Amino acid sequence: MCYLGLDLGTSGLRGILIDQDGNAIGSSEYHYTVNCPHSGWAEQDPANWVTALDHVISDLKTRFPRFADLRAIGVSGHMHGATLLDKGGNVLRPCILWNDTRSDAQAKMLDAMPEFRSISGNIVFAGFTAPKLLWLKENEPHIYEQTKTVLLPAAYLNFVLTGTYVSDLSDSSGTSWLDVRNRKLASNLLEVCGLSADMMPELVEGCCAAGVLKSELAKRWGVNNNVVVAGGAGDNAAAACGIGVLTDGQGFVSLGTSGVVLAGRTDCEPSPETAVHTFCHAVPDRWYQMGVMLSATDSLNWLSRLVDKSPKDLTSALSQDLKPPSSLRYFPYLSGERTPHNDPMVRAGFYGIDQRSDVRDMTQAVLEGVAFGLRDCAEALMNTGAQFERLYVIGGGAASDYWVKLLATVLNIPLERPVGGEFGAALGAARLGMVAALGVAPETVMRPPTSVEIFEPVADLVVEFDRAYKQFKSDFSSHKNMSSRY
Ligand code: XUL
Repeated sequence: MCYLGLDLGTSGLRGILIDQDGNAIGSSEYHYTVNCPHSGWAEQDPANWVTALDHVISDLKTRFPRFADLRAIGVSGHMHGATLLDKGGNVLRPCILWNDTRSDAQAKMLDAMPEFRSISGNIVFAGFTAPKLLWLKENEPHIYEQTKTVLLPAAYLNFVLTGTYVSDLSDSSGTSWLDVRNRKLASNLLEVCGLSADMMPELVEGCCAAGVLKSELAKRWGVNNNVVVAGGAGDNAAAACGIGVLTDGQGFVSLGTSGVVLAGRTDCEPSPETAVHTFCHAVPDRWYQMGVMLSATDSLNWLSRLVDKSPKDLTSALSQDLKPPSSLRYFPYLSGERTPHNDPMVRAGFYGIDQRSDVRDMTQAVLEGVAFGLRDCAEALMNTGAQFERLYVIGGGAASDYWVKLLATVLNIPLERPVGGEFGAALGAARLGMVAALGVAPETVMRPPTSVEIFEPVADLVVEFDRAYKQFKSDFSSHKNMSSRY
């Protein structure tokens, strides 16, 4: 038997096949892009996700004959996106993504209603799903009126796979329509947006069955007729499952398109005033809290496009040893920021450039700006009472030793980078599929990595980076004023 995890990421769809013991059989990836028609906007056509799915499946099927023994699937996805369907299940417009901040005014309006924070447990951030629907009502009423179902990206893929509308609680936590403590839809919050529960998918726990693979797909894929599809998860909850972060004291830093510092939680104790997110985990009776920055590897990707060098080339040009803080300053706010600022309008900035500044200096400054943004997230998380002795580090950016050393030093905490295997949201999604199919306890499947590489803070530079971080923090308000002028 084998299990398939699909991670619908911001830059591409990744599929991983694992065996009964949880070991990777193989993986495949297919990339797509994000459209940014205006500053702060980010959209994707769900048809591109389906194309990516077709490519990933046919690649896995061709390269790994064990695909034919598929028993279950789990889907994880980038969170908060609004995929709007008409009464026939047709997509009405491109999905508005998690890092799209066009609905700032609508988010502020909802956030000012006390019931949103008290029930959903979170600030209504501009990237969340609910304000997007109000934006549509005001700006694209013809689409709003035809909308009969609102799905998150992972739930849309669940629909493609099963033909039914089902989502999981971890992903739905980011809509602003979920009662996060009681793990159920809050119909009063939906009503404020002019919506009703029958426009929402059915909600299940991420590790429970959501349905079975449609028979026409089973036939096309060459698998049997009762492949279970799990509820799935938002990408950060799935990544937590992939690395065994399920409870207090466990956590990770993720250097993905977004940057995340996440803590597992056994209780639900929202703390919206810290701008930390409090969401249901993908397993029952567990939650997690996280600080989220919007442009982590996205910042490096931006520099990479600008200078026409790959992110890998940029980071490998840096020295082996960590350098003291740069004299250049990068503020990593390409499309606004969530934790701790909740400011969709602030933009990025580069300061201190002189005639000698080169691409290497700019790369160093970008990595540092992102590390400082993640320290902001970690401090906010610590204000909720989260404590760690160490954190895992995952995500595409974690491939850079320099970046990981820098992060360990800026956070002043040892970071553990998993080695010798597949980690991340796709693995977590496959594990959710396995738990859903076998009905076993999640802890038995969602184990921590067996081998890690430890990056200790560079002791000689901890104080200097602490000073630089404090300067970054105190410069923020001047930067904010500057950036709002342009
Ligand atoms: C979490 C968030 C991002 C996306 C994309 O709240 O918006 O982490 O899920 O990864």
